Amino acid sequence: MAEVVYDEASRVYPGNPPVRAVDKLSLNIVDGEFLVLVGPSGSGKSTALRMLAGLEDVNEGRILIGGRDVTNVPPKNRDIAMVFQSYALYPHMTVAENMGFALKLRGVNKSEIAAKVKEAAGLLDLEKYLDRKPKALSGGQRQRVAMGRAIVREPSVFLMDEPLSNLDAKLRVETRANIAELQARLGTTTVYVTHDQVEAMTMGHRVAVLKDGILQQCDTPRTLYDKPANVFVAGFMGSPAMNLMQLPLADGGVQLGETVVPLPRDVQSEAGSEGLKEVTFGVRPENLLLGSQGIPVTVDLVEELGADSFIHGHGPNGERLVIRTDARVQLTQGTTVRATVQDGDHVHVFNPNTGERLKSSGAVAADAGLAATDVAGVASLTKE
Ligand SMILES: Nc1ncnc2c1ncn2[C@@H]1O[C@H](COP(=O)(O)OP(=O)(O)OP(=O)(O)O)[C@@H](O)[C@H]1O
Ligand SMILES: [Mg+2]
Repeated sequence: MAEVVYDEASRVYPGNPPVRAVDKLSLNIVDGEFLVLVGPSGSGKSTALRMLAGLEDVNEGRILIGGRDVTNVPPKNRDIAMVFQSYALYPHMTVAENMGFALKLRGVNKSEIAAKVKEAAGLLDLEKYLDRKPKALSGGQRQRVAMGRAIVREPSVFLMDEPLSNLDAKLRVETRANIAELQARLGTTTVYVTHDQVEAMTMGHRVAVLKDGILQQCDTPRTLYDKPANVFVAGFMGSPAMNLMQLPLADGGVQLGETVVPLPRDVQSEAGSEGLKEVTFGVRPENLLLGSQGIPVTVDLVEELGADSFIHGHGPNGERLVIRTDARVQLTQGTTVRATVQDGDHVHVFNPNTGERLKSSGAVAADAGLAATDVAGVASLTKE
């Protein structure tokens, strides 16, 4: 088991201009942590993971595993195991042979290999399939074989690059819970890449958000959600996305049509001291409450999801707004409803020039409860 450190690590692809696929990435991943790298396509997630695996050069900075500088160490000497999106199983080998192959290469004796494979198969519910070839398995079973192959090696770090993307929606949800549970049981430091923010939020002890190769924020899922560091993170984490709009400051809040949406006093004074005339204002769909007063929202579409509904509409100046409600609303297109922001500082305010969150804004995070991420050191790390 080991801690992983990215120390201002960059990967620059030659070209004109050169592509900084990963740009001065600094991250401390503590021993036993499940860290998720998330970001849109092309943000540098796979590159960052491959740098850790040794499959990609590190052009600037360093990478450490368990305190050892591995920047120039070949992949096979890094004590890591990687699970790819494609699984890359050997088609001519049985499940058991696939799982034991790395140990065989290492010269481990047959009985020991068999014991390790049996143990991993037990963890992954694969005992029945050990003699089958991959082509006789379902997608979910193949995925588990790929996991098994990583587990038997007992590496100090697991690396996973979108390991669930070949599975259908239902199996993805099941498998993501299984992987999280397995990781907790084994306690192996894990770096997991996904572009799916729901996967990131549900699986990670902490989530690192990348955009254009640059780390935007690394925090617990709750802190990312409650106090996104900038407009990008605010819009990326959460589904449906946070409502974000540019609004002028008014006495006591921001002006949305005829309505003044109140802002907490500290946020108002922070905006004032930064000399702002307008701000990027954000409110999550679940923090807009339907009522008899407040912002007029003209309904464009209602999505009913069973337990709750999403009202998609627009404000007085065409601001696009989504409201989440648990009521079974019957609203026709063109109806106007009214919404207020839930009490308790559920507004997010950003500097429109830099995109950075005004420090005093954001929902009050239940920070006290976060130590329960059962990884020693995570809580203190997030305070950096
Ligand atoms: N061999 C290469 N030469 C030049 N540029 C590359 C090379 N490989 C990747 N890139 C660029 O580096 C950036 C990061 O790519 P990367 O594969 O890490 O993204 P990603 O976040 O994993 O995306 P996805 O979600 O689509 O898998 C992209 O802009 C990509 O075009
Ligand atoms: Mg990728």
